[in-house]
Amino acid sequence: MVLSNREKIIQLLAQNMHTYVSGQWLSDQLGISRTAVWKQMKHLEEDGYHFKAVPNKGYRLIDMPDKVSENTLFWGLDTDVLGQMLEYHDQLASTQDLAHTRARENKPDGYLIVADSQTNGRGRLHRAFRSENKNGAWFSFILRPELSPVEAQKITLLTAVSLVRTIKQKTTLEPKIKWPNDILIGEKKLAGILTEMQAEQDQIHYMVIGVGVNINQRLEEFPEELREMVTSLLIETNERFKRRYFIQDFLKHFEVLYQTLLTDGFKSIKQEWEKHAFKLGETLDYRLGEEEKTGVFVGIHDSGALLIEHEGKTERLYSADIHWFKGDKK
Ligand code: BTN
Repeated sequence: MVLSNREKIIQLLAQNMHTYVSGQWLSDQLGISRTAVWKQMKHLEEDGYHFKAVPNKGYRLIDMPDKVSENTLFWGLDTDVLGQMLEYHDQLASTQDLAHTRARENKPDGYLIVADSQTNGRGRLHRAFRSENKNGAWFSFILRPELSPVEAQKITLLTAVSLVRTIKQKTTLEPKIKWPNDILIGEKKLAGILTEMQAEQDQIHYMVIGVGVNINQRLEEFPEELREMVTSLLIETNERFKRRYFIQDFLKHFEVLYQTLLTDGFKSIKQEWEKHAFKLGETLDYRLGEEEKTGVFVGIHDSGALLIEHEGKTERLYSADIHWFKGDKK
């Protein structure tokens, strides 16, 4: 890839964000005059890059604009595997679909696809997932875990815990996980997770984990019919967040938890999931087949099933119509 002088300066400064680099060093690296370097720096400042300039030391990059790109996603990414190979697209039908294509092309574990907007984003149960606007984090990544297909649900639960950690790291919000995979603030949906896999009876070929998080949308940006049910970090905190940092931090949390799962097992992740579970300990109405039932939500099973205490027995629910909200706003 041939980089322009501007891109080279960004790259050099981004690689050295922990220190100062002198104008002379930059001009030597690029083979251009110091005045030309200075002019480029002025342009970068106009575009939202922030530098600290200290006499006799040089420049240090402090902040970049909220531009998501392969470069900005990569700089500062503190993972070993996850996202180390990535693709960014301005617009895609769905990052999920492209991730499946890439997985079939044998792209490796951790391969990440990010889009600024999706025209055909999808959620669980073949529902549409509105993600046309450029103010959310919409991404999918490939995993090739050494797990049996029955354990795959653990990855969904782990993803939810990673999202909770990321949100708590950045805000004072108290996110809740609504089984199996929505992240709520209060009773409003902030994020959704879509886990899909290609597997045989006892072997996962690959998984695609799709994550959609509402970050900087104002309420008016959501379709009217959704406004009662959704929220964003901006709506909740009145602050704007850099989407690429959110994605980077999420990936780091996920990687740490994934290692925990592989080395120490699922127990601590399950405990953290339950700590943040929406309506844990509460009585829920649910429909199982034709039967309307009531029971207390007591936890989750390793398989990802919801554990409900009903008439003195603990039942495992793998899928059920649960009335989570008053007036059944599901
Ligand atoms: C849900 O709420 O049911 C899950 C939503 C998952 C949405 C994400 S956005 C990135 C990825 N691409 C998609 O088309 N869907 C997932």
